[in-house]
Amino acid sequence: MLGRFITFEGVEGGGKTTNIKIIAELLQDKGKNIVLTREPGGTEISEAIRDILLSKELPAMHQDTELLLMFAARAEHLQKKILPALAQGKWVLCDRFTDASYAYQGGGRGIDIKRIATLERWVQNDFRPDHTFLFDLDAETGLSRAKSRGETDRFEQEDIEFFNRIRAKYLEMAAQNSDRYHVINAQHNLAQVQQQVTDTLNSILS
Ligand code: TMP
Repeated sequence: MLGRFITFEGVEGGGKTTNIKIIAELLQDKGKNIVLTREPGGTEISEAIRDILLSKELPAMHQDTELLLMFAARAEHLQKKILPALAQGKWVLCDRFTDASYAYQGGGRGIDIKRIATLERWVQNDFRPDHTFLFDLDAETGLSRAKSRGETDRFEQEDIEFFNRIRAKYLEMAAQNSDRYHVINAQHNLAQVQQQVTDTLNSILS
């Protein structure tokens, strides 16, 4: 039996990472075999690419290089980890996936969406997530939450307009793919967010 592929998206500070762990525990309680992973990253090579992508020590990179590195990391991750796990019937929970490339490199950086779609097809063929949780909150609140946690990466140094464009792109994708998208209002406190996440998960499982 094939597993399921569930992705988690949103601007920084929406509680994505905390809630993935909660979902993993809930699914494990229901007897599912879980793989927790993230993008960019998830394999040794993809994590090495992540270090380059998020480094603040390296000079600024061209936006095309950034996009191609995201998809290079994704190709490795997909072939070496995600697809084999799904074939074994595991549930793969992935902290960000290709929708982040549409939101950050497309919405944020302004790269033509058609070029991203070409790479998506090239790397994934028809493979898409079964479900996507979008942790939605206004970019200002999200960014200040992320910054209060400490160290920022290269993306978190961008200005607020960059994150407003990303949020708008995510909401546009959610509206266009309402069958797989579950929008969580992450403006609320953690307990309320967890409740929404749990309710959504139960509806997926039922
Ligand atoms: P994280 O902070 O959620 O681990 O994600 C790392 C950063 O990488 C985050 O700022 C979003 C960014 N990113 C992209 O710009 N494009 C992508 O395709 C992915 C997967 C992440």
